[in-house]
Amino acid sequence: MFAQLNAQPKDKILALMGAFKEDPRDTKIDLGVGVYKDATGHTPVMRAVKAAERRLVEEQTSKSYVNLAGDPAFGDAMVDLVLNGAVARNRVAAAATPGGTGAIRQGLELIRLAAPDATVWVSDPTWPNHESIIKYLKMPLATYSYFDEATRGVKFDAMLADLKLVKAGDAVLLHGCCHNPTGANLTADQLAQVIAVIQAQGALPFVDIAYQGFGDGVEADGAATRAIASAFDNVLIAASCSKNFGVYRERTGILMAVAKDEAECDITQQNLNYLNRQNYSFPPDHGARVVTMILTDPALRADWEAELKDIRLGMLGLRTELAAELRRLSNSDRFDFLAEHRGMFSRLGTSPENVEILRAEHGIYMAGDSRMNIAGLNKQTIPVLAQAIIDAGI
Ligand code: LMR
Repeated sequence: MFAQLNAQPKDKILALMGAFKEDPRDTKIDLGVGVYKDATGHTPVMRAVKAAERRLVEEQTSKSYVNLAGDPAFGDAMVDLVLNGAVARNRVAAAATPGGTGAIRQGLELIRLAAPDATVWVSDPTWPNHESIIKYLKMPLATYSYFDEATRGVKFDAMLADLKLVKAGDAVLLHGCCHNPTGANLTADQLAQVIAVIQAQGALPFVDIAYQGFGDGVEADGAATRAIASAFDNVLIAASCSKNFGVYRERTGILMAVAKDEAECDITQQNLNYLNRQNYSFPPDHGARVVTMILTDPALRADWEAELKDIRLGMLGLRTELAAELRRLSNSDRFDFLAEHRGMFSRLGTSPENVEILRAEHGIYMAGDSRMNIAGLNKQTIPVLAQAIIDAGI
């Protein structure tokens, strides 16, 4: 049986993690996988998470099964965090999933159940795993223009033109904030135009929000998702807690499905439960319970928000410093986009050959499409990276 299996291509982001680990140079710089790191290169357990975990160990009396959709309190807390009242609660079906990736997978499966022929449109580029899962599920895939290699901003006119080709009943995958891999985001006005086109085409928006709190703040980063959620009868939202709660390995995420009314919401919820049951039965509980405790306990929540704010401002500071250093070294403003981008990533916008030069000659690891994890930098490495970029003639 297994002799018939084909070798699988390595996931590029995960392969990069392995290559970095094996590099013996102590000057190496990891700008690869999307994991937050502090100035010492450590990925900390957030204070509120530690406190909630301690409390959970003390207070939890059972590890018995909870609910196919996860703990309802987690659903309520996350719907509130992401949507903050933008849509009536009785219109939102929700199911906990193993991380944001699980939510993407379940959302795509829900689309496939409802409309097997729907094409899923993704931005060019998007997080590589979006395309990989869509292809794995054998769903029709199409891309819409997004990133402008010249300005490193959004190629907005081309994006709108492509979205006008979307057919009724197709799904359009959008990033809720902090676009991965580019760091380039829509303005509120551009988003309004995108919403109008998707409405006119009769398509379903599917929002992936994996970095709420990493861009302009927890509230501001939810604004696009809320604008989308309140503009349509049906919306899918995949939210991840991996990054903003730092609970990567606990696999904590949620799929929300906004339905037209309560009756449709009830049937949608049944389908979310069904999909969880088919794929893994009950979703992981530990991370979800920790997140719920943090979001519903005022003191824990305040501490989480304060730490998240520090993390966000730290990354913004790194962006500003890198852009300033490159402005100085290049005597130009051509890297100013780094300070404009938001979230953990920026796409530098250079060739795979130059990415390889940075790795081979300087031990600087970034994704092959020149996506840099800004959180991998610190005060000491910013000048090193900036000089290497200039030396490589980028
Ligand atoms: C990333 O984009 O680097 C992260 O979302 C981690 C992953 O699973 O790819």
